[in-house]
Amino acid sequence: MGGKYTFGRILPEDTWPLRAAVLWPEKVAGPECALPDDEAPGVFHVGALMDGEVCAIATFMPQCHPSLDAQISYRLRAMATHPDHRGKALGRGTIACALAELDAMNCGGVWADARHVALGFYACLGWEVTGPSYTVPLRGLHRLVWQRLGA
Ligand SMILES: CC(C)(COP(=O)(O)OP(=O)(O)OC[C@H]1O[C@@H](n2cnc3c(N)ncnc32)[C@H](O)[C@@H]1OP(=O)(O)O)[C@@H](O)C(=O)NCCC(=O)NCCS
Repeated sequence: MGGKYTFGRILPEDTWPLRAAVLWPEKVAGPECALPDDEAPGVFHVGALMDGEVCAIATFMPQCHPSLDAQISYRLRAMATHPDHRGKALGRGTIACALAELDAMNCGGVWADARHVALGFYACLGWEVTGPSYTVPLRGLHRLVWQRLGA
């Protein structure tokens, strides 16, 4: 029975299956999918859920980027939507859910190292896509994407 998607905070370990399945295929879903700062102060995880299944994930960490102004103080990491649930605005909704929280915290903006295959997604969401391409080992070509929040 297909229910409705809901968006909200999830636990760090709730991200592990999609991190392994979508982002880091050489890893097994489990503790090896944890990022070192997953449980650090200020870090939070959001997701799209349906009938208890985590269908999309994103992690937000307090961190500035050397090329951006210091008000852009959060970094998005490990954004993924399950292949069976793509094109249903789950990525958009997951990010919107987190940006509402960040805006309420008076965070001035958010950035990410974005895979080339996902640049169109961030552009659709209104993020800036800037600077040169660079290679992240194992993960391929990336570019900096960012979005200002607040006034
Ligand atoms: C990128 C990804 C998260 C998008 O998730 P999704 O839930 O399918 O995205 P949404 O349905 O919310 O899409 C929002 C908008 O972006 C567009 N979009 C989504 N993926 C896109 C892509 N790869 N290229 C161009 N546009 C894209 C959609 O068409 C939609 O546009 P619309 O609102 O104008 O119709 C998903 O494809 C994914 O997990 N990819 C593999 C992992 C990955 O690359 N993660 C990002 C790492 S930086």
